Amino acid sequence: MQSQLDSLRQHSLVVADTGDIEAVARWKPQDATTNPSLLLTSAQDPRFRHLVDAAIKEARGDVAAAMDGLFVQFGREILKHVAGRVSTEVDARLSFDLDSSIARARRLIALYERHGVSREKVLIKLATTWEGIRAAEKLEREGIHCNMTLLFSFAQAVACADAGVTLISPFVGRIYDWHRAARKVDDIAVDDDPGVASVARIYHYYKKFGYPTQVMGASFRKTEQILALAGCDLLTIAPDLLDKLSKAPGPIERKLSVEKARSEKIDKVAMDEKTFRWMHNDDAMATDKLADGIRRFDADARKLERLIISLAAATQAAA
Ligand code: E4P
Repeated sequence: MQSQLDSLRQHSLVVADTGDIEAVARWKPQDATTNPSLLLTSAQDPRFRHLVDAAIKEARGDVAAAMDGLFVQFGREILKHVAGRVSTEVDARLSFDLDSSIARARRLIALYERHGVSREKVLIKLATTWEGIRAAEKLEREGIHCNMTLLFSFAQAVACADAGVTLISPFVGRIYDWHRAARKVDDIAVDDDPGVASVARIYHYYKKFGYPTQVMGASFRKTEQILALAGCDLLTIAPDLLDKLSKAPGPIERKLSVEKARSEKIDKVAMDEKTFRWMHNDDAMATDKLADGIRRFDADARKLERLIISLAAATQAAA
C-alpha cells in the first residue's frame, strides 16, 4: 500500500524536524532541521549523552564553545543519516546583532569543517529579523547557506528572496496557534487555516517571479496542514506526524505547483528596510510570533547552557 508519506515524497522533499538521531535514521529524510528547543530535549535524553559529553570535553571549560560543539555534534550525527543538509541555529540572543550573527555562523561552519563536514551540508538558521536577513545576505556571499526561521509575515519572505538566501522556513503551526487563540476556537479547518495560506502565498510569489530561494513549510500541528502544502519545495515534519503520514493510505494530491503560481495574478513588492519594518509591524500575528519565538528559543538555549554547566561540573568532580 502506498502511504500518504510515500505519495508526499513524490511532490515535496521531506525533511525531519527533530534532534532525535534515531528518528532521523528511521525516517531517512532528505534533510533534517534542529532548533534550540529540539536540541534541549535531545541533550537531556540518555541515548545522546555521549554527544553532550564530547562537546563538553572538546570545549575545555568554555561554555559558549560547548554550546556550538553540542549543536555540531548533533548535526554531524544527523548527517550520517541524511543525503542532504542539516540546519543548525544561531543563538537567538543575536537576533538583532548583525555582526555577532555573522561571527557565530562562521564559527559554527568552521567547527563543522574542522570535523570534516563541508559547508554545503549545513544550513545556518537565523531568525528572520531585518538584521538576520542582512547577516544571511552576507553569509551567502561567502558560500555559507542560510535557512531563515521564525518566518511569519509576507514582508519577511519578500526580504529574504531579495537577499538571495538559500531557504526560508515559513511557519504554519504557530500562525494557526495564534489565530486559534484570537478566535477562541479549538481548531481551524485547513481550507481556512491562515498558516497554510501564508505558505501558499509565499510559494506563489517566489515561483511567479522566479526566485531560486527554496520554500520549506515548517511547524505543523496536524497532517492536514502538511497535505494542503504538498508540492512545496520542502516540508519539515516532526517524527510523530511522519509516523501518522506513514500509516495513512495514499495517494495524495499535489496542491502547489510552479505552473499554477505562474498563472496567479500577483504584484511584485519593492522592499527596503522602512517598508519591511512597516509591513511586518502591520501584521499583529507576525509581530507577536517573531518576538515570542525569539524569547522561546533564547529561553531553551539558556536552559541548555545551564545543563552543560552542571554536567561539566559533575564530570570534573568525578575526575
Ligand atoms: C523548524 O525549523 C522549526 O524550528 C519548527 O518547525 C518549529 O516548530 P514548532 O512550532 O512546533 O516549535
